[in-house]
Amino acid sequence: MSASSSSDGGEDSITVTPVLSASGVLVRFSGRGRRSAAATAVDGVNLDIAPGEIVALVGESGCGKTTLARTMLGLERPTQGQVSFAGQPLSYRSGGLRDYRRKVQLVLQDPTGSLNPRHTVYEAVAEGVRVHRLDDERARVADALSRCGLRPPERFFLRYPHELSGGQRQRVVIAGALVLEPEVLIADEPVASLDASVRGEILSLLLRLRADLGLAALVVTHDLGLAWNIADRLAVMYLGRIVEVGTPEQIFADPQHPYTRALMSVLPESPTEPIARCPELASGAAAAAGVGQRCTSVPLPVLPATPSGQVQVSCHLAQALGKAPAGGQAQALGKASAGGQAQAQA
Ligand SMILES: Nc1ncnc2c1ncn2[C@@H]1O[C@H](COP(=O)(O)OP(=O)(O)O)[C@@H](O)[C@H]1O
Ligand SMILES: [Mg+2]
Repeated sequence: MSASSSSDGGEDSITVTPVLSASGVLVRFSGRGRRSAAATAVDGVNLDIAPGEIVALVGESGCGKTTLARTMLGLERPTQGQVSFAGQPLSYRSGGLRDYRRKVQLVLQDPTGSLNPRHTVYEAVAEGVRVHRLDDERARVADALSRCGLRPPERFFLRYPHELSGGQRQRVVIAGALVLEPEVLIADEPVASLDASVRGEILSLLLRLRADLGLAALVVTHDLGLAWNIADRLAVMYLGRIVEVGTPEQIFADPQHPYTRALMSVLPESPTEPIARCPELASGAAAAAGVGQRCTSVPLPVLPATPSGQVQVSCHLAQALGKAPAGGQAQALGKASAGGQAQAQA
């Protein structure tokens, strides 16, 4: 499967048409009212997701993960750049997103908030079937519930959300997405509101759905442990940009970007003391490396979307220290200029 080819960096990973792709995506919110300033939540992101691939998008709160996820779902329209599904740019005309909404499904963090307390499990899962006017409603609902581990499904049909555990509720939410036979799940912090004991079960469920159905997923999380357990590829987001991309093994073993190291250093099992965040750290270390103020004054190169098999890092310091592969860097700059993005000069 293409997921494995992308993790081992085989050349074939480059030839697979991504199922979902962001290209030069920039999302700017105009400030509402006098006190709120305009904000660039996503600042020129390239990201491809191959069929069957699980990509974890990690980064601290406020860095733009949810905005990027919503943009990839078609819920937010990019200010610049484009999102493509199976090679076709999304159409934002009315009705243009209808089929897309079936193929790319959202799973939210809080199953209680995603479920209507007055709807039974059956009604919750059948809703999408009705919206998209599909046949065999009952069989589809039963199949989705049992794929999500709620078996026998009929036993759950008439239950209400309050009669279920948190883990069961999240399974119902996932079944509601799955019932439309999507190709991609976008899961925004899918286990953040669950007890630690059921997080593992939901993660295994996502992995099994990938294995059984070839589902691709973008899993948004601030939890690196989750990313490690689930992802074929990790994309580290910082201040609206993706600053480092690689397999979890590459990134956990040898994080290149100071921000990635900062994220790693707050893991409980991390051997190092928590370190200051970029750009404070970067400017101190960068001065020593002769990079000077570049981290704060020169825009960082935009990373290309396609996995190269090597870690890709957007960092002046890594580049100065010779850690950013020259080829990858050239590629990054090439893509950046094609997309009309601001770019750094090496
Ligand atoms: N609808 C919006 N209007 C204005 N600003 C927004 C809106 N949504 C998000 N933002 C801002 O964009 C930035 C990124 O937010 P978000 O994508 O939610 O980050 P994350 O999911 O990583 O926590 C934040 O500064 C946030 O305040
Ligand atoms: Mg968020």
